[in-house]
Amino acid sequence: MSGRRVPVGIVGAGPAGLLLSHLLHLAGIASVVLESRSREEVEGTIRAGVLEQGTVDLLTQSGVGERLHREAFFHRGVYLRFGGATHHIDMESLTGGKRVTVYAQHEVIRDLVAARLAAGGDIRFGVSGVALEGIDTDRPALRFDEGGSARRIDCDFIAGCDGSHGVSRHSLPEGALQRYERVYPFGWFGILVEAPPSSDELIYASHDRGFALVSTRSPTLQRMYLQCDPHDDVANWPDDRIWSELEKRLETHDGWTPKQGPITQKVIVGMRSLVHEPMRHGRLFLAGDAAHVVPPTGAKGLNLAAADVRVLARALEAYYGAKDETRLVRYSGDCLRRVWKGQRFSWSLTTLLHRSQSDTPFDRRRQLAELDYITTSRAAMTSLAENYVGLPFE
Ligand code: FAD
Ligand code: DHB
Repeated sequence: MSGRRVPVGIVGAGPAGLLLSHLLHLAGIASVVLESRSREEVEGTIRAGVLEQGTVDLLTQSGVGERLHREAFFHRGVYLRFGGATHHIDMESLTGGKRVTVYAQHEVIRDLVAARLAAGGDIRFGVSGVALEGIDTDRPALRFDEGGSARRIDCDFIAGCDGSHGVSRHSLPEGALQRYERVYPFGWFGILVEAPPSSDELIYASHDRGFALVSTRSPTLQRMYLQCDPHDDVANWPDDRIWSELEKRLETHDGWTPKQGPITQKVIVGMRSLVHEPMRHGRLFLAGDAAHVVPPTGAKGLNLAAADVRVLARALEAYYGAKDETRLVRYSGDCLRRVWKGQRFSWSLTTLLHRSQSDTPFDRRRQLAELDYITTSRAAMTSLAENYVGLPFE
């Protein structure tokens, strides 16, 4: 068994783990990142698309925003569509200049991996059997298998950035975490389409048949979503059924239709709201989806992950620099304040825009009244905009 010592051991090379490793490097703190998937898989998984202004600023200020500023779409706002009409929410003017940035999660990951490797960073892709030890002691360790050899890395701290199905959270003693959860009775059917953009900004549509979303990835590749049964099978959705459903849910009085093209990916994702508290146990700090999951409607997941590791990197910097543990002690509480506001917003946008089988006609009329209110009241629009582009950091 070969072993070494690193200040911070990070489990997971998603946005949380990679960004934490990058921020720590800038603060002169070494880390190792353990990732169970290959670099190709990590860089190729299509997930989130929308970045908050604060996330863009963090990436830019930390030196990994160069390609983002060249290739991302910067939108003034989004469209809300219901009752055959489209309403623009001009978030840039409502928030004093904050924009909606559309830049895919896997592009953020590529930028971070490239920056870490260029700086000599230690990312171990394709490891297995990661186990956390001694998190209740001041000598925690990570054990894992790498290319058939058993390895051990001793750390001062471990960051559990391994997503909602990771191992870190399960290393805590029974009863250490309080779990708050809501599972939604619907999911999203996501597609990638080889076609030009159908709209200059994202369209969130609420229709009697269910929710639909038009997003983008590049001038030639588009991302669209349809509310569906979370237990459905993509095999039940031939292309013509997808287009027919998208056309119905996105219909307008002026005959707008989405631009069609070859569908190159179909995926169904379930939707839930989930928080584990506290986000720290001993020397283990949970960050991102490892601690909390939001339904995708508000586009908050990646952004909350980035906000967590921003807090954690600063806390570790204070610990290693001034030997000040105050920020580490405050980590969980500081993160959870933002997380719960993200949860509240994601839940409210999800319940506003989706249809549920248990909904009564009253519920639908109430949804439509709320949409009418949001698209006509400057106060309501401002609240939506402030949350969507991202609440300020405290
Ligand atoms: P993850 O991205 O899940 O990364 C965890 C990493 O840990 C993975 O690479 C995994 O392979 C690795 N890992 C897991 N277990 C182990 C183990 N035992 N050992 C080693 N490694 C392990 N968020 C937004 O902000 N904006 C959006 O527009 C948005 N849209 C979305 C759309 C969809 C369809 C989906 C599914 C999600 C969306 N999200 C969005 C959410 C966002 O993708 C997640 O919140 C984000 O990926 C969380 O990052 P993370 O680093 O915490 O976790
Ligand atoms: C995308 C995902 C979201 O969850 C969202 O709210 C908007 C856009 C996307 O993948 O492009």
